[in-house]
Amino acid sequence: MHNPEVIMDLAKRMLANLDARTTDLAPDIYRNPVTRYTDPQRWQLELDKIFRGVPLVLGLTAQLRTPGEYSALDVAGTPVLLVRQDDASVRGFLNICRHRGAPVVADGCGAARRFTCGYHAWSYNRTGKLVGVTEAQTFGELDRSTLGLIEIPVAERAGLIFGLPRAGAELDIDAWLGDFAEELACLELDKRHVFSSRELKAANWKLAYDGYLEGYHFAALHPRTIFELDYSNLMLVDAYGPHQRVVFCRKTMPEMRALPEAEWRPAEQLGIIDAIFPHAAVSSAYGGEYALVSVLFPGATPGTSRTVQTLLTLTPTEGDEERVAEAQRMSDFFYDAVEDEDYKMNFSMQRGLDSGAAEELIFGRNELALHHFHTWIDRLVEA
Ligand code: FES
Ligand SMILES: [Fe+2]
Repeated sequence: MHNPEVIMDLAKRMLANLDARTTDLAPDIYRNPVTRYTDPQRWQLELDKIFRGVPLVLGLTAQLRTPGEYSALDVAGTPVLLVRQDDASVRGFLNICRHRGAPVVADGCGAARRFTCGYHAWSYNRTGKLVGVTEAQTFGELDRSTLGLIEIPVAERAGLIFGLPRAGAELDIDAWLGDFAEELACLELDKRHVFSSRELKAANWKLAYDGYLEGYHFAALHPRTIFELDYSNLMLVDAYGPHQRVVFCRKTMPEMRALPEAEWRPAEQLGIIDAIFPHAAVSSAYGGEYALVSVLFPGATPGTSRTVQTLLTLTPTEGDEERVAEAQRMSDFFYDAVEDEDYKMNFSMQRGLDSGAAEELIFGRNELALHHFHTWIDRLVEA
């Protein structure tokens, strides 16, 4: 949780915007060339410089709590394996067998003592060491000590497992997160429990991510889901280096004013998106029961991506049917809103952009988090 003064300050900023019929604004509008979402060369540069160049969110503490628990996933074309170690740390590897390159475990989460490759059954232990070579007497001389799984740097902070999926890379997670680490810590993701995890298909990864960064579209695109709860086009945006906190406002917020300030409960009236550059968004209410972690990965082409959407609860739901049913409703609510509304819209937009008929997109002054996101993308790609 944030300290109450921070939350109260956000609530007052929000009420001031509401009273002035405005939202946080950038100084000017921003024009983004359509090719940013369609050009294969540009997209390849994003993979090289961003998805293999900066720390990414590769997993959640809540997915791998016990030694031996693992998560295998595709990170923009790089197969990655995260494993909880016996000393409680997490290590990351390329999920590529040193024999002939097969994955040593299929994508997904599980628990294993050893990872045995499906092709010729070479096996590796939790530390990535090569511990078994099938029919070794016929294979020929090998120095097994040099043939462990290739390690990639990972670091765990605030319930998130960050990593850089490139052998030999260096990771300074504290420098990368800066003050944002404190904001993320307030979400208490490390204490939470996984309720559900699903995957959604989307259009270009930035087109999908843009949708998490503004609430200008709530009234038009989400009239019967998000707009039932939140105002449209009413946001606070704070940048922390490349990362951002975007705050939305429940329509019940002004009712607080009927009470003395000491009785306000502003945390319940704020919806937060913590946008972890370049590809993750945590939607929550401070101190709230639910947090939705969305992690986006480019697909095989510029016009495709996938999102891993995981719903976390603050208290366990197991064994409590009512709570399970409520969490399931939450999970379905988010899934349906994103799948049927945001991503469906993105696919239609992608068609228009791919047609080449338009030259640019315009981000309004009110869509300032998009300005910030794309400025950082351009900066890294062009560096
Ligand atoms: S590729 Fe893994 S054992 Fe042959
Ligand atoms: Fe949306």
